[in-house]
Amino acid sequence: MDSKSATIIASAAYLPPKRVENSHFETYLNTSDSWIYERTGIKERRWAENDVKASDMGLIAAKEALKKAQIDPKEVDLILVATMTPDQPLPSTAAIIQSKLEGCRAPAMDISAACSGYLYGLSVAKAFIESGMYATILLIGCEKMTQVLDPEDRSTVILFGDGAGASVIKKGGSGLRIDRVVLGLDGNLAGSLCIPNGKKMQMSGQEIFKTAIQKGVEIIELLMEQEMLSMNDIRYILFHQANIRIMQNIQKRLLIPEEKVPTTIGYTANTSAASIPILLQSIPHEKNHRYMSVAFGAGFTYAGAVFTSL
Ligand code: COA
Repeated sequence: MDSKSATIIASAAYLPPKRVENSHFETYLNTSDSWIYERTGIKERRWAENDVKASDMGLIAAKEALKKAQIDPKEVDLILVATMTPDQPLPSTAAIIQSKLEGCRAPAMDISAACSGYLYGLSVAKAFIESGMYATILLIGCEKMTQVLDPEDRSTVILFGDGAGASVIKKGGSGLRIDRVVLGLDGNLAGSLCIPNGKKMQMSGQEIFKTAIQKGVEIIELLMEQEMLSMNDIRYILFHQANIRIMQNIQKRLLIPEEKVPTTIGYTANTSAASIPILLQSIPHEKNHRYMSVAFGAGFTYAGAVFTSL
């Protein structure tokens, strides 16, 4: 690893102001605050207003990340937007964000890998930067999950929230050096979590729950082997925030101490591709540590990454 490695030099997150507590669902569904909290670890989530789209939230996070990185939008070479809730089928959400980033003329594209989208995007950014094709990449994860949820489906509507996160990635520098990214997909499970045309989200909760634990364990073991790491070498494992019980199951199987697993699930719920950059923003930056990140989602996609904090 050297100064040629792609590095996240700044990140930012945005959560819409409207807080929705579990008690909201008690008013019209056969559910309870205690059922939701005990099964998922979620207490509340943020919902965007009707006229706010994924691109609006992504744009706010992107501008903040660029400001932190002291990068002018003109300097961005490529915009990647991970989302499963695009504003509309065409043009891409990435194109819409580019049009609102003053002075930015970068090519832009969406990445559709559901809740693994941010790590899938990170792998694309790493490859482009380390090949020398681009110097500065803006990676955004933004989701308006409320647009794809059936408010009457108690098994899905309670699980998700709206929000956005963004990262600026460059060669070298201080921040989070991206040492390795691994990607995976089991297409046989494509029907377990899907949004058929014209319909709202459909999910086979138990199948997703079981597979997320199995793949999460596999990815962590694989990354530890590839990077020759023991659990003691890892400062944080940044899990995609889907369900506290998925994280706890993986922690138990791999003997991961609680202090290595920061969470936002209690107040964000599952924000899909935005969840990892939002989580990243919630922890202090500590230099000279190894971090790991693990994500899984519809597809069934899964991904992992190892970083060095510099
Ligand atoms: N309130 C009360 N009861 C609910 C409920 C809710 N919000 N949602 C589902 N139930 C009911 C089910 O209808 C079922 O009732 P039944 O026994 O009468 O059929 C019962 O609770 C048990 O359902 P089950 O699916 O076994 O519950 P669970 O312990 O697996 O928890 C999930 C359900 C959805 C919380 C859990 O499966 C889960 O989190 N799965 C992963 C989902 C996920 O993370 N998706 C995104 C991946 S990125």
